[in-house]
Amino acid sequence: MKNRLLYFLLFWIFLVFISPIGVTAMDKKLPISRGVNMGNALEAPIEGQWGVIIRDEYFRLIKDAGFDHVRIPIRWSAHADTKSPYTIETSFFNRVDHVVNEALKNGLYVILNIHHYEEMMQRPEQHKERFLKIWEQLSIHYKDYPETLWFELLNEPCNYLNSKLWNQYLKEAISIIRRTNPKRKIIVGPTDWNSVYKLNELEIPNDPNLVVTFHYYNPFQFTHQGAEWVNPSPSVGTKWLGTAIEKFIISGELDMAVEWSKKHNNVPLFLGEFGAYSKADMDSRVRWTSYVARSAEQRNIAWCYWEFCAGFGIYDPYREEWRTPLLKALILTKDK
Ligand code: BGC
Repeated sequence: MKNRLLYFLLFWIFLVFISPIGVTAMDKKLPISRGVNMGNALEAPIEGQWGVIIRDEYFRLIKDAGFDHVRIPIRWSAHADTKSPYTIETSFFNRVDHVVNEALKNGLYVILNIHHYEEMMQRPEQHKERFLKIWEQLSIHYKDYPETLWFELLNEPCNYLNSKLWNQYLKEAISIIRRTNPKRKIIVGPTDWNSVYKLNELEIPNDPNLVVTFHYYNPFQFTHQGAEWVNPSPSVGTKWLGTAIEKFIISGELDMAVEWSKKHNNVPLFLGEFGAYSKADMDSRVRWTSYVARSAEQRNIAWCYWEFCAGFGIYDPYREEWRTPLLKALILTKDK
């Protein structure tokens, strides 16, 4: 009898207190999980200047390989007037529309962002109005697109765009977007190049369709060895062996993001960029990539690899073939 009473009580405790926690977490699971960045193309000053022009057939390849989304970095600031009302060039809109449509047509979710708005990182106050006006134009332009198109406010806020300013700007950008896109997913991330260590300074409005992003390139000496755009560039030769301590650091940093999300109404997390540059040895890149991807998956964090076919690329555009070890490190389920 005593036992039955105990079971009965336990059952009710589970039903009332524990199962809703599970339900909440499930409810917040994103419809995307694995993606790739179409880097070095539309965020170059002019598409092609950094060696990549997005070809329509890439999206079929990406979908068939097992990815469910692409993130398309875009340098709108190079194609918008510098004077009010900061009109975006029609020809550039046409090009972006074409790329977005091709990706959507292939059943991929698409994340469209503002990327490399470098002037804004140097002089945020001067560029705030232009930033907001660009979002106003984008939100009107894409308002009738399917819900599988998502917006990401700004890649890697950094330098003079500090958390105090950014928290203010992001709220204003979200309310502008919400006038025309009441339910579209909007992604937003912290300062210091979307650092996990700056999540604790990020303030987001109460909106059920927000997703919080962060980027992950640690250890930086490993992932950015020989990177020409980093000054000073970390020397080449650092390996990532997957030792207990190396794994412990990565797990701990991902856990920080999860902890932050738990304290913020379980807002879904998106690891919008991670990758290791081609100057690192392939075995280490494979180990690191696989460890980060699996660790994110275990924590229910959607991820998007940096990037498709340039310096970090998983696809060789000249040979027109996948870099199989890297693809396998990302996507386990398909036999490539
Ligand atoms: C930048 C890229 C860079 C990558 C890795 C991205 O956010 O936009 O230019 O290659 O990070 O450093």
